[in-house]
Amino acid sequence: MHKVLFATSEAQPFAQTGGLGDVCGSLPHALAKLGCEVRLVMPAYSSIAPAADDNRSHTLQVQGREQPVTVVRRRLAPGLEVWFLDFPDYFAREGGLYGDAHGNDWPDNPHRFAFFCRAVAALAMGGAPDGWRPDVVHCHDWQTALVPALLAGVPERPALVFTIHNLAYQGLCSHTQFSTLGLPAYLWHQDRLEFHGQCSFIKGGIVYADVVTTVSPTYAEEITRPEYGCGLDGLLRTRTSSLIGILNGIDYALWNPETDPHLAVRYNLASLAEKAENKRALQQAFELPQERETLLLGMVSRLAEQKGVDLVLAALEALRGQPVQCVILGSGDPWLVASVGRVAEEESERIGARFGYDTALSHRVIAGADAFLMPSRFEPCGLSQLYSQRYGTIPIARRTGGLLDSVVDRHDDMEHATGFLFEEASGAALVTAIERAYNAYRQSAVWSRLQRNGMVLDFSWERSAHAYVAVYQRANAAARG
Ligand code: ADP
Ligand code: GLC
Repeated sequence: MHKVLFATSEAQPFAQTGGLGDVCGSLPHALAKLGCEVRLVMPAYSSIAPAADDNRSHTLQVQGREQPVTVVRRRLAPGLEVWFLDFPDYFAREGGLYGDAHGNDWPDNPHRFAFFCRAVAALAMGGAPDGWRPDVVHCHDWQTALVPALLAGVPERPALVFTIHNLAYQGLCSHTQFSTLGLPAYLWHQDRLEFHGQCSFIKGGIVYADVVTTVSPTYAEEITRPEYGCGLDGLLRTRTSSLIGILNGIDYALWNPETDPHLAVRYNLASLAEKAENKRALQQAFELPQERETLLLGMVSRLAEQKGVDLVLAALEALRGQPVQCVILGSGDPWLVASVGRVAEEESERIGARFGYDTALSHRVIAGADAFLMPSRFEPCGLSQLYSQRYGTIPIARRTGGLLDSVVDRHDDMEHATGFLFEEASGAALVTAIERAYNAYRQSAVWSRLQRNGMVLDFSWERSAHAYVAVYQRANAAARG
């Protein structure tokens, strides 16, 4: 089985800002269960508290640094260790993973993650504890995308796999910054890292990995087109034979309505009626009238243009006077936070909002809402629609990316339907989808069929982990051939 060095800038339960953290926290466990030896490597942010067995540290010599860097090792499960790269100047900061408490990116992000990539490359090439050598390095998103660029030409290198979780975040910096990163000058070329006069970290992964994956089959196809390609569709078209979409799984140990410690009342398929108590508790928590007949919509999201929050606000405006309530939990762009806050204040009897990152509350929204909104403009995979289906909460989502790959609309397949999909990224199209959902909600047999169809689906990691093992095999063959 494979020895995988799994490099990421976030992984739950240690540090996360979004779905990347969910995936990189749970996929390594699933790979280890299949027999892979996995070493998850990530920065030691200040939020990562020391644990009892963290004394098994190791020193690593990173190119360009005189002082060795400490790697703190922690065993997570059989076959799985996490290695925290302890470099306080870059990573032990007050604030977020990528920026300060006000949401401004750290200006030295290119240096922080170029350094991280160099450290990962050193671990891959003999610098790891106990002489451990991976046969695959699996990198995720722009923060680790220089690793393939650094390793591609090295003799006896491991296979290189790069996963795109979101093509819109590319890790761009100026030529001036590039020239202070200590990277080989030949990388400044339009066929390598240069991108319209800037340096693009993500190109390192796309150009140099043996296999490039992304997190759903539909997104894998979409990003080869200009509408979704963020300027990289041309490059991605040159890689289509090595570009694979694998739908994310979810961690059933964390997301299970039967055992979820955050819920007012736990339930399963047999006790689905108990879900209503979670709705009541959610209405109460957001100070909304506790009406059963009203359709309660929920949304838990990064507040970013990608997620279509503006469509939700437009739809809610159009639905004024209808028996529809909405609760929103989110954090992100200050102007979106302000607009959601304003609407929630003006219409506090039907719209509730909370800001910040709150895991416990996110579980209560997903369990308590009748329907879950994901009107994303694009969505590489999306996890909340998977969680919602597991919880008998009906997704209302745009027909794009992983949403299309995981939600079945009633128009497409009445018998297996699990939710409502809509095409156009507009408030009006979302209103139509919400109205369709409301009509179904009024017919309890139809609604409970939708709920049950979603709850029995298998979104576990096992299936996807097998697909990654196949990718590692393929990458090994490509690296050798
Ligand atoms: P993305 O990674 O693009 O943000 P995903 O749907 O893949 O989107 O994953 C988002 C994850 O982050 C989900 O687990 C969601 O519940 C969680 N999440 C997003 N915003 C918040 C928040 N404000 N509080 C708690 N959890 C959140
Ligand atoms: C990204 C995407 C999201 C995906 C997540 C995990 O943040 O926006 O769609 O689910 O990564 O792969």
